[in-house]
Amino acid sequence: MMRCFTLYSEGSHRWLLFGQDTDANEAAVDTNQVAVSANGSTMLLDPGGMELFPAAMGALVHEIDIATVHNLFLSHQDPDIGSALPLWRQVVAPGAAIHVPELWTGYIAHFDTDAVLSPIPDEGGEVALSNQVKLRFLPAHYLHSSAAFCVYDPIARVLFSGDIGAALLPAGATRDIWVHDFAAHIQHMAGFHRRYLGSREARDAWIQSVMHLPIDILVPQHGLALRGQDVMRFLDWLSGLSIASGLDAYRRGIASRP
Ligand SMILES: [Fe+2]
Ligand SMILES: [Fe+2]
Repeated sequence: MMRCFTLYSEGSHRWLLFGQDTDANEAAVDTNQVAVSANGSTMLLDPGGMELFPAAMGALVHEIDIATVHNLFLSHQDPDIGSALPLWRQVVAPGAAIHVPELWTGYIAHFDTDAVLSPIPDEGGEVALSNQVKLRFLPAHYLHSSAAFCVYDPIARVLFSGDIGAALLPAGATRDIWVHDFAAHIQHMAGFHRRYLGSREARDAWIQSVMHLPIDILVPQHGLALRGQDVMRFLDWLSGLSIASGLDAYRRGIASRP
């Protein structure tokens, strides 16, 4: 059973997270699938891999009319992000836009050669769900993928951070979706960030770009969501993390999965 968590809800404007599938195959890394809705229009963020499509679809249709999904977003090219794209395309609104980093269009086409992709240019972009709710694609290049984007909602003050903030938690435990003890949570994030984030320069530029944004909730594609003071605690921790270089992490034998 895949679980559904409400991250934000104000009238028709909702952020829902689908994840922590209790029947998931442990060989596949655990992922969070996110849906943002406003005024009868929905965008799916990193809708996930083939392996969990039936569970994700089953959980989603309990909460959202699948015909309202007019937009899909893939933060980068990894299979855990969007290898189920050809399956999602069969059930969402006909002609739904598929927003992917421009750099990766030719690679994502290997999941789904018939898909018509909407390339996101390197500098980012914006998509309106309603007159008020506009979702911004913010560059997160080299974190970890050479072209990656986060999604920011200035009204809900939610940042979907893709693989930034990813945590790998012990399998099988039923848990809340929120981090409650940031200091204790670090151990679940550190290995991934040190091995997968290979550029300090990219890390610093990204932190500079999001520091000034009002963010109440930061939700990554793996692990738990952060809210309130924990968002700043996370940015602070990341800014001081010794990520050195990809080679450094590999030489130290840091081999955490995504
Ligand atoms: Fe990734
Ligand atoms: Fe990932």
